[in-house]
Amino acid sequence: MNEHVPAPTLSERADEIEEKMMHDLAERVATKSVLFGMADGKVEMMNGFDFKKNNPDKYFLMGADPRLPKMPAKPTLVDFFKNRFASLNHLLQSAMLAKKNGHSEKIILACLLHDIGVASFIRCDHGYWGAQMIEPYVDEEVSWAVRMHQALRFFPDSSVGYEYPQMYINNFGADYKPEPYIVRDYENAKKHKWYMSARLICVNDIYAFDPNAKVDLDDLTDIIGRNFRQPEEGLGFDDSPSAHMWRTLMWPTRYL
Ligand SMILES: [Fe+2]
Ligand SMILES: [Fe+2]
Repeated sequence: MNEHVPAPTLSERADEIEEKMMHDLAERVATKSVLFGMADGKVEMMNGFDFKKNNPDKYFLMGADPRLPKMPAKPTLVDFFKNRFASLNHLLQSAMLAKKNGHSEKIILACLLHDIGVASFIRCDHGYWGAQMIEPYVDEEVSWAVRMHQALRFFPDSSVGYEYPQMYINNFGADYKPEPYIVRDYENAKKHKWYMSARLICVNDIYAFDPNAKVDLDDLTDIIGRNFRQPEEGLGFDDSPSAHMWRTLMWPTRYL
């Protein structure tokens, strides 16, 4: 051992081990998709040949990632809530508020699901992503409302007491203007028969950020059961147009 090189500190060693675990699972190597690197400002990927050269004794991960919570063979929406959604509080609070305000089960479900794009997947255009994920399994009005809350949230409606959220001024700056596609979708939504359903998501949304509120998914499982068409094969294993999105959430580090 070279005496002039100081031994790694305990925390350096821990980082090193964690780093190794990140890339070196028991027998297989997990891959980071290009999107994961973009969050660090890098547009890059390793090609399969180099990947194999760096890991000559390993195969690539082609299924479940052992670092993530285990999913059952036939996952339900509730399994995704419990094992793949990073935060439930806001979604549950939103839904409970809609319930307390006496809205229909469709609206309560829409509130429960309105931000699953953010909670599980990606922030950008989360309303559109979330709507696409649930579209095959819910009433059309529910997915429409989830999609459109993305646009409506940026525009006030005094008829229901919805003002432009102060939080957006704090978060995005006073001069932030929604992009033309958001304005277009808002203008179209205003004329739509389900406008108020999407608007109610916004109304039950802005007040639903109390970190100390006591909420429980069990209080909403009946409503999920009656209003979300759980596929028999398990979410992700049916042949719906969004099944692949649920599979990707289940196995985000598969090589292909
Ligand atoms: Fe949202
Ligand atoms: Fe929200």
